[in-house]
Amino acid sequence: MKPFVYVTRRLPEPALQSLLQVCEVEIWDHDVPPPYEVMVEKVVDKEALLCLLTDCIDAGLMDAAPRLKVISQCAVGYDNIDVGAATARGIPVGNTPGVLTDATADFAFALLMAAARRIGEAIDYVRQGCWQTWGLTLLLGQSVYGATLGIVGLGRIGQALARRASGFDMRILYYDTTRQPEVESELGIEYRPLEDLLRESDFVSLHVGLTDETQGLMDRRKFALMKPTAILVNTSRGPVVDPEALYDALHEGQIAYAALDVTDPEPLPADHQLLTLPNLIVAPHIASATVTSRNLMAARAVQNLAAGLRGERLPYCVNPEVYG
Ligand code: DGY
Repeated sequence: MKPFVYVTRRLPEPALQSLLQVCEVEIWDHDVPPPYEVMVEKVVDKEALLCLLTDCIDAGLMDAAPRLKVISQCAVGYDNIDVGAATARGIPVGNTPGVLTDATADFAFALLMAAARRIGEAIDYVRQGCWQTWGLTLLLGQSVYGATLGIVGLGRIGQALARRASGFDMRILYYDTTRQPEVESELGIEYRPLEDLLRESDFVSLHVGLTDETQGLMDRRKFALMKPTAILVNTSRGPVVDPEALYDALHEGQIAYAALDVTDPEPLPADHQLLTLPNLIVAPHIASATVTSRNLMAARAVQNLAAGLRGERLPYCVNPEVYG
């Protein structure tokens, strides 16, 4: 008999087909995530769980699933999963690094460009019939070419963004908890302590995972260090930025603009105060949303899940300590 697994959202067809070859699948076939209580009920008889970043996978849920052999997250970030609880229960947790790096870096750069050149406002201006003539001061933006970009978090995506920015002759600074001298010389980038990076950068792009240390990293004090012309880009996790501090910084002109793909809360309600600001653009967490990247993410999640079911080491495991 094939193992029985729970999948918390529809998967791209190729990934679903490969999953069906190795297990019997129950899928939450809706556009919004399954409620927590539903997941708890569904995992009772399952040997594996394939989940998304919108699902809260905590100790209670794991305890409701006595047969659970593997948790496979279809995303690179996994702050929605209590990994410590999984490790304590001997359950490996998989994620999908690598296959969304370029899509996410492309999108971060697209947000940077859109904010710098006020593309959202320009589109609205034309659609609203405001376009009367060519004007010397119409919708002036900021230069990207030659400007200073500060990258906070020099993982795969941060490095991929640096490569894109070099093509625009940007001066690139980075901050990370560990310095990476080889990457510095390969990419021609300079390390700065975070506060110095914030002071010097025209654009600041966030690429850190969400942890206790990075929650609220961008707070009032940090915004106060930034240039009044600076633009903040966030494609990491919403709670890395304090939303009230961001509102005040944008409202009071402490920084010029923000472009977010991730927010706190998520989804951002349409009546949220941030959405009243003219100097903010928000996308609905779609930085990795290309057909190629999402297919590869789902394939990698299935690969992790199948390995876990076979009792093999997950190819992409976030808690390798589970293997002793
Ligand atoms: C991730 O994978 O963590 C992104 O936020 C969604 O692709």
